[in-house]
Amino acid sequence: MWLVAERPPRDWCKDPAWQLNERTAKSKQIPFATGVILVSGPVYQLWEIPLQRPSVVPSAVDSVDQSLLRSFLDPSEKVSKAALVCVAELAIDSGAVKTADACLPSGTILTFVDLATFPREFEQFVAAVKQNKLDTTEADVVRLIGHKKFRSPSLKAALRAMIRWGTSRDRTLRWLEKLCFKPTDFIRLARHSVFPPVQIHEEIRGLLGVVASARPKEILEIGTSMGGTLYLLTKAADEAANLVSVDLHIADETLFSSFGRKRQHLHVVQGNSRDSKMIESTNKRFPSGVDLLFLDGDHSYDGVKSDFLNYSPLVRDGGLIAFHDIVEDNETRYGVVTGGWSGGVPRFWKEIKSDYRHVEFVRSPDQDGHGIGVLFVGSS
Ligand SMILES: C[S@@+](CC[C@H](N)C(=O)[O-])C[C@H]1O[C@@H](n2cnc3c(N)ncnc32)[C@H](O)[C@@H]1O
Repeated sequence: MWLVAERPPRDWCKDPAWQLNERTAKSKQIPFATGVILVSGPVYQLWEIPLQRPSVVPSAVDSVDQSLLRSFLDPSEKVSKAALVCVAELAIDSGAVKTADACLPSGTILTFVDLATFPREFEQFVAAVKQNKLDTTEADVVRLIGHKKFRSPSLKAALRAMIRWGTSRDRTLRWLEKLCFKPTDFIRLARHSVFPPVQIHEEIRGLLGVVASARPKEILEIGTSMGGTLYLLTKAADEAANLVSVDLHIADETLFSSFGRKRQHLHVVQGNSRDSKMIESTNKRFPSGVDLLFLDGDHSYDGVKSDFLNYSPLVRDGGLIAFHDIVEDNETRYGVVTGGWSGGVPRFWKEIKSDYRHVEFVRSPDQDGHGIGVLFVGSS
């Protein structure tokens, strides 16, 4: 059962009774599996969203087996995720996929589908379209799944494609960088590149500002992902910095290694940050300590805590420790999956931050995850 509460009390977000999580659910004697979604309106009222596992549409496509959804459409065709979302939206419009709308406290209206029934309903919709049983014609769906046809060629899209292509090659990337003058320009370039940072623009800009004034020489990042933050850190770090980035899977070692400026040394290391050999070899890479430790790897509570315990002793007096995803996601706050995932980082951040002088970069306090926190280590 999912409850929707209309018109929450003023300052609801400061009222713990409205922040339904496992603990408050128990105290209100609501079964743990129940979630609350808040909508604005004239009266207080509770009613049910008749969905077993609500999830917003793009997250639903992420949460179910995408190859299964693709197989319903056309196994031989390369179907992009964006196309799957569009077909899901067509299915929702036709009524074939069961939905419920709700408005989050931020004012965003979200359409929820039921993860428990979504793949079957999606399959039935596609089958009905193929048999011409719906108003939506097969041509509509074919048009959506046709990879090239799906993206209408516009000048902006062509430019973006060129930038993407350009950023995948060392020489063209250097050339594109000549058009960047401020940190914001580099963030924009990275966002449209083949190595987009998994960050909110304002928040990473805030972190880069702190990093640029500290000019760290020794940098350790846990969580390389597509290389976006590693790239941006090379721009804010000292000209002769030594940067090491660790990830379970290094997507493109050649490209990432080319990020370093002329006198910088950059190493990407594949492996588990919690592995004792990894901790030992990373220690050896920083004989005189670390100036900036950026933790954006394993987001589970135990994961972020062990990265902190294993690598923070390396950080020198006057150094920085930055955490990404210090803001709770909607799943933790409301029990609703809307795409953000901060895991146990917000909890760990809350526990640790008051031991240090610190700063937070958060675009909006009720956003779905993200947020960067920086600890200033030592007395200076
Ligand atoms: C959110 S992404 C990092 C995003 C990146 N910092 C950026 O914004 O460009 C998290 C990354 O951490 C990596 N990761 C998760 N657990 C890890 C672990 N135990 N050791 C190393 N990397 C890990 C994942 O593979 C993933 O690529």
